[in-house]
Amino acid sequence: MPGPQEIDPARLRESLGSLAGIDQLRRAVGEERAYLVGGAVRDLLLGRTRADLDLAVDGDVGVIARALGEDVTVHERFETATVRVGDLVVDLARSRAESYEQPGALPTVSPAPIAEDLARRDFTINAMAVPLDGKAELIDPHGGLEDLRAGVLRVLHERSFVDDPTRALRAARYAARFDFRLEPGTEKLLRAADLSTVSDERVQAELRRIAAEDDPAGVIALILEWGVMPSLDSGAPERVGALADLASRPPWAGWAERELAVSLAIVRPLPQIRELAAATPERPSEVVRLAEPWDPAQLLVARALGAEWLDRYAEELRHAGLEITGDDLIREGVPEGPAIGRGLEAALSGKLDGELSGWDEELRIALAVARGEIPED
Ligand code: CTP
Repeated sequence: MPGPQEIDPARLRESLGSLAGIDQLRRAVGEERAYLVGGAVRDLLLGRTRADLDLAVDGDVGVIARALGEDVTVHERFETATVRVGDLVVDLARSRAESYEQPGALPTVSPAPIAEDLARRDFTINAMAVPLDGKAELIDPHGGLEDLRAGVLRVLHERSFVDDPTRALRAARYAARFDFRLEPGTEKLLRAADLSTVSDERVQAELRRIAAEDDPAGVIALILEWGVMPSLDSGAPERVGALADLASRPPWAGWAERELAVSLAIVRPLPQIRELAAATPERPSEVVRLAEPWDPAQLLVARALGAEWLDRYAEELRHAGLEITGDDLIREGVPEGPAIGRGLEAALSGKLDGELSGWDEELRIALAVARGEIPED
């Protein structure tokens, strides 16, 4: 993180000018009024690169979006659009005001100038804008620059968490990511946030965003400390930390989807996963039988709860297969049906446990079990 003095709006012109895709953006915007807004401005000031940019347009979103590129999705009704410009994803939205008719529900929006668009936002550090024109002068009506320099999260008005309690979860994300603290008045308002007014889908979406952070355990620890999510248990930060760590190393990295696994571990894991984690299989065939029905992300949750035996499954046992196939059994006269599956399964168990090897022995056991000559196990 840059020191306070290094956060210099005078450099915005230069850093905006060196953004990949900026020339294309400027050409598409032409004479329209368009502004870089929100997290994109914050990150530009912090010198952090990002893969997406948010633009607020005080004019026709569709016209700019279509002038920008071919890979365009325009939602005319919402006056929003997403465009891919090279490696960059640009989200455009008509600058707008919002009014919340009910706490926690989605707001009603209406077109409005940029000042109102900034006034509807979550924290001062996210309520700045930079016009895309050559001057690139920072628009900062709420003191965002000062708070960014001081490392402070501050809401814009008293009803911010009432209107949108998911902002409490967003605050934890930013506080952990940037090592920022809550301004005392904001902390008081945040601790009173009531997430029960928000739909499950929206809370889940926030949990997935937390899961995508570098330090999800730090975010969860803050949410727990602030007491805004009653469904969190005290073991959540440790569980999430263990899991995030495991997810980044072999044999789990690249197999279990990190984000999904972390989001599953935030809330108290399902009793069935706890049961799996408590199992103590002795033979490899038992490991496979227990692990096979689960998604890798769910297995990783069980692993984070202590099931070390799952490492062997992730690393090696999940790849195990037979040399024979069902066709070999059919060729030997076994009728198509469940007996084939029983035979193959028995051969695989034998192979996993080191009791047989090679095509001939696999076939012998599979046939014997499929024909009911010996019991499955
Ligand atoms: N915003 C808000 N209230 C919300 C969600 C978003 O005020 N509940 C505003 C903020 O100004 C935010 C902007 O919309 O900066 C864009 O939202 P989002 O993409 O979620 O946030 P970013 O700041 O881009 O965050 P991140 O760095 O996590 O992507």
